[in-house]
Amino acid sequence: MNAALGEKALDRSIVLVGLMGSGKSAIGRRLAARIGMKFVDADAEIEAAAGLPINDIFEVHGEEAFRDGERRVIARLLSEPPHVLATGGGAFMDGETRKSIKARAFSVWLRADFDVLLRRVSRRDNRPLLKVENKEEVLRQLIEERYPIYEEADIIVQSEDGPHEETVNEVIAALKRLTADEARDGDAASSPNQAI
Ligand code: S3P
Repeated sequence: MNAALGEKALDRSIVLVGLMGSGKSAIGRRLAARIGMKFVDADAEIEAAAGLPINDIFEVHGEEAFRDGERRVIARLLSEPPHVLATGGGAFMDGETRKSIKARAFSVWLRADFDVLLRRVSRRDNRPLLKVENKEEVLRQLIEERYPIYEEADIIVQSEDGPHEETVNEVIAALKRLTADEARDGDAASSPNQAI
């Protein structure tokens, strides 16, 4: 278990945060396989709990109801045994969720540039916030609002269009540094971001 991270098993989940299209699920799945942890997708869990796809939750019940469900589902997942958790782009923006993630998990922001995000989100039409005429404008606005908050994550890794395994390697390297720092200081709170 966790061979890629050294001998000691991680005592906390790894939570991936970042904008739609930043690669949280794709990277999360591969990261989980590499370090021998379970992968969980928060959006899929919300859909299972609601019995509805995310688009329908937004359409039928509205965004606020979705956010309530998201908060509850992530709180439950964070109380489960350590795993790799991909969250929806808005999850870390919720103060309560952010606090729980910081207290109980390692947070990793997959940071991607506008062009990369736009290219990726344009491939599919499954995101309620982007069912608009001007995707570019919404995306720019979300970058402006959210990036200063995502920056609070423990680890920041740039998500590029190259091979996923390279990004996974960077996450693993940053996690190793973070856990080594914590072991040395005995104080997670004082560790600065481990930017790559
Ligand atoms: C959202 C991102 C989506 C999903 C929902 C809202 C957001 O998840 O949770 O459509 O607010 O950014 P992904 O980031 O996985 O696309």
